[in-house]
Amino acid sequence: MGKKTDIDWSKLGFDYIKTDFRYISVWKDGKWDEGKLTEDNMLHISEASTVLHYGQSSFEGLKAYRTKEGKVQLFRPDRNAARMNDSCDKLLMPHVPEEKFIDAIMQVVKANIDYVPPYGTGATLYIRPIIMGVGHNIGVKPAPEYIFTVFCMPVGPYFSGGLKPCKFIVQDEYDRAAPHGTGKQKVGGNYAASLQAHAKAAKDGYADCIYLDPATHTKIDEVGAANFIGITKNNEFVTPKSSSILPSITKYSLLYIAEHYLKMPVYEREVFVDNLDEFKEAGACGTAAVITPIGAIDYEGKRHVFHSETEVGPTIKKLYDILYGIQLGDVEAPEGWIYEVK
Ligand SMILES: Cc1ncc(COP(=O)(O)O)c(C=O)c1O
Repeated sequence: MGKKTDIDWSKLGFDYIKTDFRYISVWKDGKWDEGKLTEDNMLHISEASTVLHYGQSSFEGLKAYRTKEGKVQLFRPDRNAARMNDSCDKLLMPHVPEEKFIDAIMQVVKANIDYVPPYGTGATLYIRPIIMGVGHNIGVKPAPEYIFTVFCMPVGPYFSGGLKPCKFIVQDEYDRAAPHGTGKQKVGGNYAASLQAHAKAAKDGYADCIYLDPATHTKIDEVGAANFIGITKNNEFVTPKSSSILPSITKYSLLYIAEHYLKMPVYEREVFVDNLDEFKEAGACGTAAVITPIGAIDYEGKRHVFHSETEVGPTIKKLYDILYGIQLGDVEAPEGWIYEVK
C-alpha cells in the first residue's frame, strides 16, 4: 500500500501498514525523555536487550474511531494505560504515566489523521503501544533502559458481512498461562507461547482454541486472545473469574452495558466446561472483533452449539450494537469512556 490517498478501505484486513509517524520515548537514568514523533519505523537496539532474550516487554491494542460527524475518538485509553502499567509491575519495567501514554496516542493519531478510516466503512485505526527492555545487559535481570513506542495502522472490519458465529475447540493439552504466572498481564511471551496451540486449532478448522484454567483444567479461562462471555438460559450475563485471564477492556465494558443498558443480572464467576448447557448464547470479546459470536465449542469429542452455528443470537447482537455504537459515537457513552482526538 503506498500513499494514504490510495487506500481502499473496503479491502483492509489486519496487516501491517507503515503510516507516516510513530512516537518514541526512551527511559534512561531513572526517567523518561520528552518523547517525539518520527518517520523511522525501524528500531536500532542493543543485541543484549532483555526484550530479545528474556521477553521483557508488554504491548497494548486499542482503536481510534471516526464518528458520523467526522470527529475522531478513542475508547477508554486510560484502561489500556492502567493495564500496561500492571504489566510493567509484573516484569519490573518502569511505569508509563497515564498522561504520557494518552498524549503519545493523541500525537500519533493526529499525525496520521488521514489514515483514520471514514465512518461507515467498518474500518478503524488500530493503535499499538509497546514498552520493551533495551540497553546492554546479559544477566537475567531488568534492563537498564526502556523504549516506549506507539504506532498505528488502519485495519478492516472484523466481520465484513455481519456478525458470523465461529467454532472453537477445547485443547486440554495446552495451557496459555500458569496459575500465578503472567496470564493476567499483556506481555509478549504469553503470545509466543500461544502460537503452537492456535496453529493446531486453525489446522483442525477452528477459529481458535479455548484455554481452561491451568490449575484444574475444569473451567474456561480464555477464548484464544479474547475473553469469554455467556448468556444463561435465565438471561444473565456471565464471564469467567480467574487469576490467569487477561482483563479485557471490552469484557468489562460489556459487563457494564449488560447491567446498565440492558438491565441484566451480571456475574463474574467460574464457568465450568462440563456445564456449557447453562448458556443459550456465547461470545468471545476483545478490541479487534468487539464480540465474535461463539457458534459451537467442541470438547472431548462432543459439540456444544450456542444459539446457532450460523446466526448470531439476539442478546449478543444487542450487546455488540450498543458497544460498537458507543465506540462510533452513535450511542451515548457512560461518562469518561470516550476521548476525542482534537
Ligand atoms: C489474551 C487476550 N485476552 C483478551 C483480550 C481482549 O482484551 P481487550 O478487550 O482489552 O482488547 C486480548 C486483546 O487484547 C488478549 O490478547
